Amino acid sequence: MAGGRRLSPACLFLAVALVVVVALPELAAARTRRYTFNVTMATVTRLCVTKSIPTVNGRFPGPKVVVREGDRLVVQVHNNINNNVTFHWHGVRQLRSGWSDGPSYITQCPIRPGQSYAYDFRIVGQRGTLWWHAHFSWLRATLYGPLLILPPRGVPYPFPKPHTEVPLMLGEWFNADPEAVIKQALQTGGGPNVSDAYTFNGLPGPTYNCSGASDTFKLRVQPGKTYLLRLVNAALNDELFFAVANHTLTVVQADASYVKPFTADTLVISPGQTMDVLLTAAASPSSPAAAFAIAVAPYTNTVGTFDNTTAIAVLEYDGAPQQSALRSLPRPALPLYNDTGAVANFSARFRSLASAQYPAHVPRTVDRRFFFAVGLGADQCQSRVNGTCQGPNGTRFAASMNNVSFTMPRTSLLQAHYQRRYSGVLTANFPAAPPVPFNYTGTPPNNTFVTHGTRVVPLNFNTTVEVVLQDTSILGAESHPLHLHGYDFFVVGQGFGNYDANNDTAKYNLVDPVQRNTISVPTAGWVAIRFVADNPGVWIMHCHLDVHLSWGLAMAWLVNDGPLPNQKLPPPPSDVPRC
Ligand code: C2O
Repeated sequence: MAGGRRLSPACLFLAVALVVVVALPELAAARTRRYTFNVTMATVTRLCVTKSIPTVNGRFPGPKVVVREGDRLVVQVHNNINNNVTFHWHGVRQLRSGWSDGPSYITQCPIRPGQSYAYDFRIVGQRGTLWWHAHFSWLRATLYGPLLILPPRGVPYPFPKPHTEVPLMLGEWFNADPEAVIKQALQTGGGPNVSDAYTFNGLPGPTYNCSGASDTFKLRVQPGKTYLLRLVNAALNDELFFAVANHTLTVVQADASYVKPFTADTLVISPGQTMDVLLTAAASPSSPAAAFAIAVAPYTNTVGTFDNTTAIAVLEYDGAPQQSALRSLPRPALPLYNDTGAVANFSARFRSLASAQYPAHVPRTVDRRFFFAVGLGADQCQSRVNGTCQGPNGTRFAASMNNVSFTMPRTSLLQAHYQRRYSGVLTANFPAAPPVPFNYTGTPPNNTFVTHGTRVVPLNFNTTVEVVLQDTSILGAESHPLHLHGYDFFVVGQGFGNYDANNDTAKYNLVDPVQRNTISVPTAGWVAIRFVADNPGVWIMHCHLDVHLSWGLAMAWLVNDGPLPNQKLPPPPSDVPRC
């Protein structure tokens, strides 16, 4: 029997030759792209405030990183500032390269002042717009930039080729030092001060005091041409509405996955999310000005304060007279800041492309189901030795999932996992459901105090996971952009009110749901996601509003090695920082 299966030498040769021929084009095309990030302080002036900010290579926003699908990317970081830092490649799957994921105290200890670390990973099966940002405290306020993944050479986009591609990073400017802002908030127990402006590629534009033409981002276009805007919401704490006066946008990509194209006048983009949109310039622009405002403004239901300003950039047609009257540009109508209906309508329109070339491998069955209640909470005043209690009713603000507020460990969870030394670092008992069920979107319970811990969910390799993320109304219902590291997930369902397993599960989309790495849990609603735990390591899942992350709105999945050699986490690189 065994002899009958043995291959003849000729047959073996043919098999080897076939493997070589098939594998060669990919090997030949894949390249190593190398970048150097020197983290340095640089002087920047916005809104008439001149200050020294952390930058990469002296630039704000930071440099554009461009790779092709299949490439290896090596970024050598030198930390020359007086602060710890790490970098995260937001949305990159990091298959078996968790040591390069970057969240501080999760996959690595911070890079200390004067130290260096090389992030080294491959980009596999992803294409489109992602971004990179610092992942230590609130340093990402100024340390961020685009990470563009082009398709392999010779592979076209599944939409008409644009004339030009334009990265457009939406950010948030603080006149104060963002590190001082969060430090003060954690000291007082109250909400942090809000930002002073929103920005387009670092520029606030003409709607703010002491901000003029030279502080305004301009996009010059030629009549009749189509442009690919690569949008990133890099703001710290605000979901944003986005629109261009007199122009309709076609969404073609979200979080580095293609979507079925759809048109929209107004987009909603949450911190962490990316969106590629096509904008076609009119053949003969109707307005005599031939210049239009591109606007962003916040979407929020917070009961606290927020930056309620509108920032604009300029879409300017070639040959248009130089604009002197920047403030009088035609402006798009944006929804009211709390228009949750507009947000729900928009997010319901995303569908995976799900074509033969880009199929959607949606898990149809589930091994383990989780239900996470996500929201704010409080700490009792006497629970902290340092600080005051300027949170609600003399408490301190906190945030939690299943009532566990995440405590940052003092060493890296991935290191602890690799050495199998968990004691004193983490516990593997993160609850699969809220400890005390309640009417999540109704009247909040009397006791809204949270517990604290570094608790994780251990998963066997290749487990299919479903998580229902349920917003709570504790201290006000508001949406939470949840980001999962190390994976893309399918968004199989969402709705308002409390999730109802009996009725809602039947309405799931298991055919062409959108695939993302960041999804907003709707205000007073829920969202269901699915992923297959095929990437060993420790992966944080957290709210991408930095203030909520600082208050503990996070947990981590500990995905164990699989049985095969290529299913195991490799050893750490020799230069991985020590705590
Ligand atoms: Cu873009 Cu953990 O973050």
